[in-house]
Amino acid sequence: MKGGKRMEIKEIKAGELDPKKFVKEKVEEIRKIVGDGKAIVALSGGVDSSTTTLLGHKALGDRLKVYFIDDGLMREGEAKQVASTFKKLGIKVRIVSAQREFFEALKGKIDPEEKREAITQTFYRVIFARLIRAIGAKFLFHGTILTDIEETIAGIKRQHNILEQLGIDTEKEFGYKLVEPLKQIRKDGVRKVAKALELPESIYNRMPFCGPGLSARVIGEVTPEKIAIVRKATAIIEEELRNTKAFQYLAILHEDKVTGMREGKREFGLQIEVRCWDSIDARVAKPTKLPFKTLTRLSERITTEVPGVVSVTYNITSKPPSTMEAV
Ligand code: XMP
Repeated sequence: MKGGKRMEIKEIKAGELDPKKFVKEKVEEIRKIVGDGKAIVALSGGVDSSTTTLLGHKALGDRLKVYFIDDGLMREGEAKQVASTFKKLGIKVRIVSAQREFFEALKGKIDPEEKREAITQTFYRVIFARLIRAIGAKFLFHGTILTDIEETIAGIKRQHNILEQLGIDTEKEFGYKLVEPLKQIRKDGVRKVAKALELPESIYNRMPFCGPGLSARVIGEVTPEKIAIVRKATAIIEEELRNTKAFQYLAILHEDKVTGMREGKREFGLQIEVRCWDSIDARVAKPTKLPFKTLTRLSERITTEVPGVVSVTYNITSKPPSTMEAV
């Protein structure tokens, strides 16, 4: 990780945040920065990028082009779902197919930070730079929040979207400037702003999903086959835990196999770890005290519905020393 700049960002705590005032100020700020130019935003459908998109759209209208990057690392049905939600809000989302580029970049990489770096480079150097050039834009809108910046600077995890704060000059390196309207607030603040912008509840209360997507949940090399496995397990966990009100729940695919048995025969199979977190702003977190009945149901469904899985475990460690995602 490159050496970071000292952080000079002034935090606005969720309790002190006046969301309407924040929206007004950010819209004015964006108009000043972008002038009569064009900008792009990569919308994942999460609360951070959705709020950033709405702020940008409010400020710039159609001069902000909105893209969903289908990197092959997203959850089941995500691209269509996001495009249709934003269509209802009057915002056109263009889906960019980029699976090949991402899997190519991840090939052979096993080190967590190298995997994260490969994702960052593919997003910023390859995909965003290409989109920016194609429409003659100069700015990329970014849903970076304060927690992402802090954890990257502290050297805990290189969040996929932290660049300037690590001393990277995006204009020189990639050909565009960043606009980061949310960098003074955290997840709880973003949810307030999203609500004030009248985003639907399915978005302002949406569970976080990290930028590197399912690749942060595969230990070892990321391949399309492993992503398909963790995607299936994720869909089951999301369905079963939807009503828990937990901050975030997820599946992790382990690299080590273990001996299991099925129909009286030995099966050297895969392990899925379930994590379910209680947290307010993702800085610290505790595992949710899920009823054993729920855990048993998860284990039964995952071992029957996800091919090759013979072991399901539940993480009982807090953050710290754990982090929320595994990679
Ligand atoms: P960790 O694993 O660092 O996760 O404890 C804390 C929160 O941040 C999300 N996360 C990310 N979000 N880009 C993001 O936009 C990233 O690279 C990234 N890594 C982790 C994670 O899902 C959790 O909500």
